Parts: sequence; C-alpha cells; structure tokens
Amino acid sequence: MIFSPSQENIEIAISHLKMGNLIGLPTETVYGLAGDARNAQTVAKIFALKGRPNFNPLISHVCDIEMAKKYGEFSDTAKLLAEHFWPGAFTIVVPRLAGSEICDLTCAGLETIALRCPKHAVAQKIIKGFGAPIAAPSANISGQVSPTSAQHVKSEFGDNLPIIIDGGECQIGLESTVVAVFENEVTLLRYGAITIEEIENVIGGRVQIANLNDEKSPKSPGMLLKHYSPNAPLFLDCDKANEGEILIGFGDMLCDLNLSKTSNLQEAAANLYRMIRQADAQKPRAIKIAQIQNTGIGAAINDRLSRAAEK
Ligand code: TXA
Ligand code: MG
Repeated sequence: MIFSPSQENIEIAISHLKMGNLIGLPTETVYGLAGDARNAQTVAKIFALKGRPNFNPLISHVCDIEMAKKYGEFSDTAKLLAEHFWPGAFTIVVPRLAGSEICDLTCAGLETIALRCPKHAVAQKIIKGFGAPIAAPSANISGQVSPTSAQHVKSEFGDNLPIIIDGGECQIGLESTVVAVFENEVTLLRYGAITIEEIENVIGGRVQIANLNDEKSPKSPGMLLKHYSPNAPLFLDCDKANEGEILIGFGDMLCDLNLSKTSNLQEAAANLYRMIRQADAQKPRAIKIAQIQNTGIGAAINDRLSRAAEK
C-alpha cells in the first residue's frame, strides 16, 4: 500500500522499522527498500525480497554526520566530503568501526561500511525518528530498473511490501555517487549526480577511478553486476527506431519519448528510469536510446545505460 507522508504515517513507518519490518522509503535519488541496518533478520528480508546476491553490501542511511561517525572511521578527507556533500546524493565507503552495531550482512561481511545521509525531507524525518541507520538498496528486484516513484516500488513488490511512503517523484532519479575514502585517497566506485570534478574541487586533489584489473584499487561488489535492465533489449546511440521499437530521444529530435527536449542533463537523469519503464510496459521489440553527452551527470546516465544495454 502507498501512504501519504503525513506525520501519522511517518510514525507508523517508524514503528514498523522498530518491529523489524521493511518499508518503501523515498529519497531524492531513487526509492529504497528500507530496514533496520542493525538487525540481521531484517536485512536478510531485504536480500530475499530483492533477490540480491548477498555478497553485495547495502548502504546504511544516516540523518547526519554524528550518526555516521558512530559506525564508520572518518579520516579528515572523509569528514570534509561529508560536510560538503551531505545531506545529498553521495555515499562514502569508509572502514567500519570495531564493535559497530551494524550487522555483518548489511556490509556483506566486509571491513568497510557505505554511509549516506539523504536530503529528502521524508527520509530525514524517518531516519531521525528511528534514531539509527537504515539499510536501503534501491527498491527494485535485483538487476531491474530502479524506482523513482512510489508506484514503481509497488509494481516491483506488490503485497510483499505492505508500506510504501510516497515522497513524490525522485528529484535526481539516479542512484548516489559512491566513493571509497581511505585516509586521503578517494576512489570513485559509482558515477552519480555529484561529479568527479566537484569532488576534486573539494579535496584539492585527484579522484582515482576504481579499476577492476588492479588488485590494489578499492572496488564495489556492485560494479560487477548487470543492472538497471528492462525486459526489452536496450540499444544505445540510436537516432531512429523500426516498426515495433521505441525510441527514447534526447534534445530536439523525432522520437516516442524525450528525456529532455532542451538537452538538459539533469532533466534527462530525472526522466531516465521512468521513461525506460514506460517504454518497457508497451512490450516493444527493442528500446533504442539516443546518444547522451558524457559531461556532468551525463557520465552517470551513460554508466547506467551501458550496464543495461545489450552487449
Ligand atoms: O542513491 C542510492 O544510493 C540508493 C538510495 C536508496 O539511497 N541506494 C542504492 O543502493 O543505490 P544499492 O544497494 O542499489 O547500491 C549500493 C552500492 C552497490 O553497488 C554496492 O556494491 C555498493 O554500494 N557498496 C555498498 N557497501 C559497500 C562497501 N562496503 N564497499 C564497496 N561498495 C559498497
Ligand atoms: Mg540498485
């Protein structure tokens, strides 16, 4: 069921979290499938409902830096980044504090923890009211397209998820930028709305990009997986579609759906998952997507598209 974000419903959601149940949580990036990050049984339900391989760790969502510092070891650089980009679409992987209450399953047994402080007012209220970190992967069946509305979450899980709090359409529409921070070394693990250039400006140094072929480079288990895929085959860099296919355009062009007529990358990011779902619902022979420039959040859009596309 979808619930409005009234104070009463927020309190109901919090009481469900306290009972160890899952809820659909709105954030500014995508909706999360959320539960108590300290409770292994709850977190096991998240993995089961999503069909997620349990070597792939979850992000723990906090309401501020103070809460985050109880669970992760923040170097000066990590602190600087948190102060700069939180609350927001930014996840920081740091060493886990010894004796942390977060359960091993949340972190998939790793010695690191991923922490994010979301900006969405409803997420903030729920985490603050709950008083502890909330584990939340994107609220979709593993490998499928991420949800950017409460309705999307409902269509993923149906009655298996009794409470979804409606926070409206996600403003950003793509998952957070993920970085690993060890001492003063920052490695990008996932592209997102916050760009490498912005991060480099804050730290006054270079950001490494995670390298799967380098044993010493920090990595994210999620980097290995095929993701964000609709049922129809998806093709990139297209400018026309054949009979029975759907063309998702960008900029001034003839197409079935347009990510942004004015070539605005923010708007395209916010529309991306919704339009892929919309196209897929028509059961086309193929979904074709126009070329999107690789600057700013365009790098994150292209990262998601390349993982979703036919090889
Ligand atoms: O915007 C977002 O980040 C959304 C909303 C709900 O907050 N969440 C999200 O979660 O996208 P998920 O589970 O779909 O993606 C989390 C990513 C995965 O690629 C995972 O491998 C990586 O973060 N990750 C989590 N913990 C990690 C760790 N300790 N070390 C490296 N990577 C980690
Ligand atoms: Mg996901």
